[in-house]
Amino acid sequence: MGVYVVTGAASGMGRAAADKLRALGHTVVGVDLREAEVVADLGTGQGRRSAIEQVLAAAGDRLDGVVLAAGVGPAPGADRPRQIYEVNYRGVVELLDGWRPALAAAGEARVVVFGSNSTTTVPAVPGRAIRALLAGDVERALRAVRIFGRNAPAIAYAASKIAVTRWARRRAVTADWAGAGIRLNVLAPGAVLTPLLEKQLATPAEAAAIRGFPVPIGGFGDPDDLADWVLLMLSDSARFLCGSVVFVDGGSDAYFRPDVWPRAVPLRGLPGYLRRFRGFRAR
Ligand code: NAI
Repeated sequence: MGVYVVTGAASGMGRAAADKLRALGHTVVGVDLREAEVVADLGTGQGRRSAIEQVLAAAGDRLDGVVLAAGVGPAPGADRPRQIYEVNYRGVVELLDGWRPALAAAGEARVVVFGSNSTTTVPAVPGRAIRALLAGDVERALRAVRIFGRNAPAIAYAASKIAVTRWARRRAVTADWAGAGIRLNVLAPGAVLTPLLEKQLATPAEAAAIRGFPVPIGGFGDPDDLADWVLLMLSDSARFLCGSVVFVDGGSDAYFRPDVWPRAVPLRGLPGYLRRFRGFRAR
């Protein structure tokens, strides 16, 4: 049996994944604002440092897997973009950097980061915001979404999820992660009926936008189904899964952008491709 950390373990998909892991006999160290083994605010630097330390103290410097499900949704509010960046981006990357040695110590560890299909279905997300987050500059990322006014939280949310997805894909293939036996992958859900979505549905304007959003199979996702995908991505069957983004979204991503991906490397991308090709060192 393994030792797993689940952030956002008190609600929604994080809670469903933690329950399923416990039911299989694994030890789960939940991290959340409340009702968790480790109570910490991932929206502050101090809270994140405390979460890293408390988890290592509880787990004993060896982790078989981590699920990063804590997240803040795109509800309206002037301070919301900052909370979104702090929790959805920093609350993932700083924790994973802190726990990486413990994941490597397990020999064959797995990490599932919660992304979102907002990464490919929200239009006009400024590249500046994404680049600023990846460079660690939250203030610049905030300035990049200010012009969107009351839509700023929705744009910041998509930017946070694009940035965290790119961060994960960049790290996943490196010697420190893939080379250390850690499989780092991203799960990208569409609208799933959890307390996060229920809060948005309670606001009439947001509810209309959510219910009118194209979902080819119709309806909302079930948190239990998404938790099963998490368990699959933590299982032995995922040993060849590395840096992947798994969309489980009722078809919205495919509906909007059927031809965007997969796409061959264009001719102008050839120099970069060849540089990476020649720079590769097999394990
Ligand atoms: P939820 O709201 O049910 O659960 C999120 C959990 O994160 C809560 O228990 C909350 O207390 C915790 N959390 C929030 N801020 C925190 C902080 N500062 N410190 C510590 N914990 C904090 O949400 P849900 O829907 O289960 O979301 C899980 C993940 O999936 C999130 O990253 C969300 O962005 C993502 N997602 C959700 C979708 C949906 O439709 N529900 C769609 C796509 C992605």
